[in-house]
Formats: sequence, structure tokens, C-alpha cells
Amino acid sequence: MYKTIIDCDPGHDDIMALLTILAHEECFNVLGICTVAGNNTLEKVTRNVLQVEEYLGLNIPVYKGAVKPLVLDGVPQPAGHGESGMDGPILPQPEMKAQDLSAIDFYKEVLRKEDDLTIIALAPLTNLAILLNEYPEARSKIRQIVLMGGALNGGNINKYAEFNIWHDPHAAKIVFDSGIDIVMAPLEVCYAGGILIKETERFRNEKRVSKLVDDLFSFYLRYAIDRGWDKTAIFDLIPVLYLLNKDLFISKKGKVDIILEGEDTQGQTVFVEGEGNHTVLIDTDRKACMKIFFDAIDTLDLRYQ
Ligand code: BDR
Ligand code: CA
Repeated sequence: MYKTIIDCDPGHDDIMALLTILAHEECFNVLGICTVAGNNTLEKVTRNVLQVEEYLGLNIPVYKGAVKPLVLDGVPQPAGHGESGMDGPILPQPEMKAQDLSAIDFYKEVLRKEDDLTIIALAPLTNLAILLNEYPEARSKIRQIVLMGGALNGGNINKYAEFNIWHDPHAAKIVFDSGIDIVMAPLEVCYAGGILIKETERFRNEKRVSKLVDDLFSFYLRYAIDRGWDKTAIFDLIPVLYLLNKDLFISKKGKVDIILEGEDTQGQTVFVEGEGNHTVLIDTDRKACMKIFFDAIDTLDLRYQ
């Protein structure tokens, strides 16, 4: 059982990752959801997660984190996720509000009591970097950070970088240099474990959770369809699938360095295999990944009717 905090910027794929976590209550004890400015503003991504909670009748506490990267300004990226940060579903007004406690203070509160926390990080690493700066003891108390971010060959935001790392490279550097055990799911393994566009048809029904996923895909797939692809990555799902079944993944150990600057290189993750506390996921079994995802949504369709 993973005692976990989810750090995210929903984001279509953040929500698909969250749903898969929720389906596996035997595996994840979710202490809270922290939000951070990333794909869109902190206000918008926080609202998105609260709306999903309202739609499903959940009450997992939500804690707001950083409004901007450590050093850079941070620019919302409506191309991938739309103006709301999660275009597609029409969701109810959330009654639940974010907690008064900030994400950073929530991490501190948890880590004062727990020393086996697994953080699932699906967004820029700003919250975690602030935590490490303000509360260095966190280094020895976090069991592992499993994150979506980075790229080995080519980027999705500039020539070499992946968005989450590019958006706040200074934060990523602090987190990667912290000595904490990190598992990184870069772009390549996310593409390898992606969903075929035709497979998304299975969600086209009136079941509550399938309908949410179908509405998410109605916008999220446009990026792939516009480029003539038959498949899309559900990026943030991959770290969750790794925690659910590590045997599905080929990985390498070593050390990841973060490049801070350069038009082509800001946020580049340079991986050197060998000694080090970083595990990089390299490849996976796509069909097995999708089976876990599909089964998770089926489970939730039975739970939330
Ligand atoms: C990452 O960027 C975000 O927009 C996605 O949610 C994912 O975390 C992919 O580069
Ligand atoms: Ca994300």
C-alpha cells in the first residue's frame, strides 16, 4: 500500500491518472491532492480537480501550491488542454473548496508524521522544490517520487525538453539533485504505453466515469488527430501504471541532470546510466498498460453510478 500525495495540474491526463489511482484502493492511500501552476493557472487547475471531485462525489482534500515557477514567469499552454486547462467535459460547480492550508504546509504536516510517503508528481516540480528548500528534512522522509517528466531523445515543448521540466527547470534541478529516490517517466515511455485512438471508443457510453473519460478524450485527442497520429500518450497515467505493476516496465538506473537555459535546451533532461538514485522508465507493454486503465474505468463505472 502506497501512502501517497498526488501533485498535479489537471489536465486531461492528470485526471485519467487520478481515476486509475482511485480504482485501486487496495494499493493507494491518497492523503491529499496538491495543485500547482503548470498546464494552466493555479486557479484553473485547482478548479478542474474540484469539479471532478464534485462530479464523482469525492472528498479528497485539495491543497493549492505554487502560482508560478521558482524563477521563470510560467506561460499557460492552452494548445494541449484548452482555455480551461481541461476543455471537454461540462462539470458541476464545485461545492468543496481547496483547503486553507497551502500545499507546501500540507507536505510538511504529513512528513512530520510519516517517513514512507510516495509522491506521484504529474506537473512542474515547483511545490516539491519549495518544500525541499524550506524543509530539508523532507529528503530523508520521502520514500520515493514517481514523476511524469523529461525526455530522452526529443521534446514536446522545445527541441529537447518535456513540458513539466521545461516549465520550471530550476525546481526540477532542486528535486533531481536532492538525493531522493526518483522514478522518471519521460515522453518516450509515455508514447510507448499510449492508447490507440480507436480504443477510446469503448468509453462512448452513458456510464458515469466512462462518460467523463470520453468527454476528456473529445478534446485531448485533437492534438493527435490533427497530426494524423493513430495513437496518443496519456502521459500522467504512466507513473501510476508503474506503481501498479513494475514488471510491465523496462528501466535503467543512473543520474539525470537538468539543463536550465537555452532556447532548445531549457528543461532538457540529460540521463547518464550507471551509479545514481534515478530510475528512468524506458519501455513498456502497451496492451498490458491499457488493460489496467480500461479495468480501472470499469471498476469506477460500477462504483459511481
Ligand atoms: C505533461 O504536460 C502536461 O500538460 C501533461 O498533463 C503532462 O503532465 C506532458 O508533457
Ligand atoms: Ca500534468
